[in-house]
Amino acid sequence: MMSEETKNENVTSTASSTVQEPTYHRKYGSRTSALEVVKDVDLTGKTILITGTTAGIGTETARTLALRGAHVVMANRNIVLSEQLRDNIYKETDKRTIDILHMDLSSLQSVQAAVKEFLSKGWPLHVLILNAGVLGSTTKNTIDGYETTFGINHLGHFYLTYLLLEKLRESAPSRIVVVSSNSHNHSGIPLTATTDTKLARLIPDPNTREIAYKLYAYSKLCNVLFAFKLHREEHKNGINTYVLHPGSMIATSTVSGK
Ligand SMILES: NC(=O)c1ccc[n+]([C@@H]2O[C@H](COP(=O)([O-])OP(=O)(O)OC[C@H]3O[C@@H](n4cnc5c(N)ncnc54)[C@H](OP(=O)(O)O)[C@@H]3O)[C@@H](O)[C@H]2O)c1
Repeated sequence: MMSEETKNENVTSTASSTVQEPTYHRKYGSRTSALEVVKDVDLTGKTILITGTTAGIGTETARTLALRGAHVVMANRNIVLSEQLRDNIYKETDKRTIDILHMDLSSLQSVQAAVKEFLSKGWPLHVLILNAGVLGSTTKNTIDGYETTFGINHLGHFYLTYLLLEKLRESAPSRIVVVSSNSHNHSGIPLTATTDTKLARLIPDPNTREIAYKLYAYSKLCNVLFAFKLHREEHKNGINTYVLHPGSMIATSTVSGK
């Protein structure tokens, strides 16, 4: 509710007209913790699958969701680190609501196996968070022969979502959260380019000599386009899709390149 005083402050009078300017209330800032944001939210009974929780933003997201009572399924390629994270979270709560799936996004077969295991458990799926990501990689191509940044950041997540779509529909209301980046703006692909040209840039040739940051920008644009299409097609089925930029230069391995 806007107070009378606030309202008045936002009315700009000019000689010819009175313009009501919008008021923006910033509820959270760069120093707000994830736990503060969800402090009044009870996630008991919600199953949330999240990729890439062994480091950075994914670690804190998984911890926060688990501490608020969600059943968190961490889909990671490093099981040792996943178990360490799970055990650390368990030191903060009595609830035992975390499961771990092995999934390497650079292998479509691994994604398929992880989904098979997930579905075999009979769990619902209320939220799918596509968080894992790489900026630069030691390997040029994925196991399936795609350029690695495209393969991990977009294609693996695309396939994961495709295989889980029916489960998300069954569990509606449900949501998909795609962690993209403001870097999607830096693809340099002209809006006027033909569809073929756009696709050729967004799906890089496995032998491309493009720099790592450009490949990252393309993959993050794929994330945004994917999210828009998903939302357009799936909201009628009770699935809402969100795509976000988590903030710039958050000190994780994406930024340090380690
Ligand atoms: N940090 C920023 O400033 C920033 C800004 C904009 C957007 N973002 C986005 O935020 C998301 C999280 O980034 P972050 O900064 O937290 O990155 P991070 O610290 O490097 O963590 C990335 C996570 O992705 C996982 N991952 C990488 N390759 C994988 C694969 N092949 N299969 C499965 N998991 C894999 C990593 O697992 P391993 O431990 O196995 O490597 C790790 O858990 C990314 O999508 C990134 O693009 C970050």
